[in-house]
Amino acid sequence: MKNNIVVITGSESGIGNAASKIFLDNGAYVIGLDKHDRESFSNNINYKLIQTDLSKLVELKNKIRYIHEKFVKVDILVNCAGVTSLTPVFGVTPEEWDSVMDINLRSMFFCCKYMLMGMVEREKGKIINIASNAGKTGGEMVGPHYSASKAGVISLTISLARFAAKYNINVNCVAPGPTETSMTSEWDKSSIEAITNKIPLKRLGKPEEIAEAIYFLASNKSDFITGEIMDVNGGILMD
Ligand SMILES: NC(=O)c1ccc[n+]([C@@H]2O[C@H](COP(=O)([O-])OP(=O)(O)OC[C@H]3O[C@@H](n4cnc5c(N)ncnc54)[C@H](O)[C@@H]3O)[C@@H](O)[C@H]2O)c1
Repeated sequence: MKNNIVVITGSESGIGNAASKIFLDNGAYVIGLDKHDRESFSNNINYKLIQTDLSKLVELKNKIRYIHEKFVKVDILVNCAGVTSLTPVFGVTPEEWDSVMDINLRSMFFCCKYMLMGMVEREKGKIINIASNAGKTGGEMVGPHYSASKAGVISLTISLARFAAKYNINVNCVAPGPTETSMTSEWDKSSIEAITNKIPLKRLGKPEEIAEAIYFLASNKSDFITGEIMDVNGGILMD
């Protein structure tokens, strides 16, 4: 990973934070795009946080233009930023629908689009999007808008993989099952127990375990893989 420049959205927490750590540990330069600054890796000169609200597209475009001007090339894009919602069907308002879609799907597409512009020119790049097993199953705990956004991520990944293959760019997806981050820390104890019982490996995933799959898909060990939706879920869905 030495000399690779990696952009990671949602780098300040959970899966994106664990992914940032593994890239940094392996010698990459990591540019984080996150709404919050939790002072991650503050002593590491190979990490730069650019604080951004990804749902604001003009701001996002400007930040990515800045990245292209300052760093010239971006080798890898990892789209981890996302929000969850447990609101059930009758509680979902148009505003809540839009806010979940805006960050989970719309901003992901535009991150990919703006980054692809540089990657296509150089005919080199890897993109890894984070979906969820809820995008395949509809989810059990989460709301319909969250599951729909993640189904969108899966389809978006395949569509972009078809587009980008001719430019030697791989686009893949990791679909985690329930994972120990701030997202699941909101769930009550009995819900966690119920979901754990349904996981054949009888535990939630750790962010570092999802990060390992991301890292593999970003490395040259996966050069012949594109359009793949990789499940990392303790067996809760086997398809
Ligand atoms: N934790 C799970 O059980 C689980 C399961 C399946 C999929 N996922 C997916 O994994 C990804 C990472 O989730 P996590 O569990 O690490 O959650 P997390 O809440 O720990 O991290 C999400 C990060 O995204 C950032 N973010 C949110 N909205 C943003 C915005 N508008 N602009 C910029 N940054 C923003 C947050 O600041 C945070 O740092 C998400 O896409 C999530 O849907 C998580």
